[in-house]
Amino acid sequence: MQKSLLITGGAGFIGSHVVRRFLTSFEGYRIVNLDALTYAGNLENLLDVEHNNNYVFVRGDIADTALLASLFQEYDFEGVVHLAAESHVDRSITNPLEFVRTNVLGTVNLLNAARNQWGVETSARRFYHVSTDEVYGSLGAEGLFTEETPYDPRSPYSASKASSDHFVRAWYHTYGLPVVISNCSNNYGANQFPEKLLPLAIHNIQHHKPVPIYGDGRYTRDWLWVEDHARAIEVVYRKGVIGETYNIGGFNEWQNIDLIHALCRIMDQKLGRPAGDSANLITFVKDRPGHDKRYAIDATRIATELGWKPSVTFEQGLEKTVDWYLANTQWLEHVTSGAYQQYYKDQYASR
Ligand code: NAD
Ligand code: TYD
Repeated sequence: MQKSLLITGGAGFIGSHVVRRFLTSFEGYRIVNLDALTYAGNLENLLDVEHNNNYVFVRGDIADTALLASLFQEYDFEGVVHLAAESHVDRSITNPLEFVRTNVLGTVNLLNAARNQWGVETSARRFYHVSTDEVYGSLGAEGLFTEETPYDPRSPYSASKASSDHFVRAWYHTYGLPVVISNCSNNYGANQFPEKLLPLAIHNIQHHKPVPIYGDGRYTRDWLWVEDHARAIEVVYRKGVIGETYNIGGFNEWQNIDLIHALCRIMDQKLGRPAGDSANLITFVKDRPGHDKRYAIDATRIATELGWKPSVTFEQGLEKTVDWYLANTQWLEHVTSGAYQQYYKDQYASR
């Protein structure tokens, strides 16, 4: 029987890069992508692989117990890479229960399905849970998040991810499920839904619309190119020690306002606009409630123990990203039509 791996959330931003990467590097394996196709799931992210003989797409919800049982029975997955989640902090503030349902209940449902199918025969199996640095809370001006930093989530999104991390560890300690976890910093790159800062800013600059900056813009994030994250996920999947956690990041901190100025300079060049034109669109708006001040990852462990480090500089990654969005305006137009228009109106109306 052909060996199979289950990737959840593979039609989303990071998941689509992981599906593509695993299809290439796990030769001969069948890659099953289970995705509910919420507003964030988009099969256009995977047009280039949809006819691959080793690729199977299943539309379904990770909270659906019967579906998971039948998929595990049919494919007897050797491993799971779990990315499906509600992922946007602002949406978690307006609709926290959806985050509990998918991120907490959905993850526990998946843990149960793996445990039920695998039993105690787990030597070749692996349940990989993809998580975020936001579980560690908010840093002051100094310091970095290490794998030992105590959890201190502060938004409904990060609380739901922290909770799911705890359940994953509980299934390891209690039932011996062979788990591995990684916590990554902010990703950027192709195929990111334009509710997140960078694609939203690229889209708005392109259309001469205001670029909304929350508060004073002096919030810091640590940015990693999505393809480097997908490569790290492969490395952790193959070499990570069962029961362990790996932080993933680019040692690449930017305050939001500086990042957007850097983006504006690139956009002016690429669009042939006069220098400073795009920066005129920057508009300070009402802050996000409970806005975490600073995230920054210490990625020493994955570098020294597993030999991973980012492959591109931030300047290279940002330019590749801008090039991709400008070359794929149709992708952006498709995802910004319809329901997204209403979300955008609601989200920014009062700001
Ligand atoms: P995304 O929102 O772009 O994609 C999430 C995917 O999950 C979508 O395809 C969606 O349809 C699917 N999904 C949502 N609910 C589902 C359900 N109930 N059942 C099945 N599928 C469902 O998210 P992303 O940015 O690609 O993030 C992927 C994972 O990586 C998440 O677990 C997130 O917490 C984590 N992460 C993201 C970042 C980041 O910067 N984006 C950083 C670190 C970790
Ligand atoms: P985001 O991309 O939503 O990721 P996260 O909240 O998970 O870090 O936001 C990145 C940073 O940009 C964060 O500090 C919030 C800020 N931000 C804005 O200033 N304006 C915006 O319109 C958005 C979406 C985010």
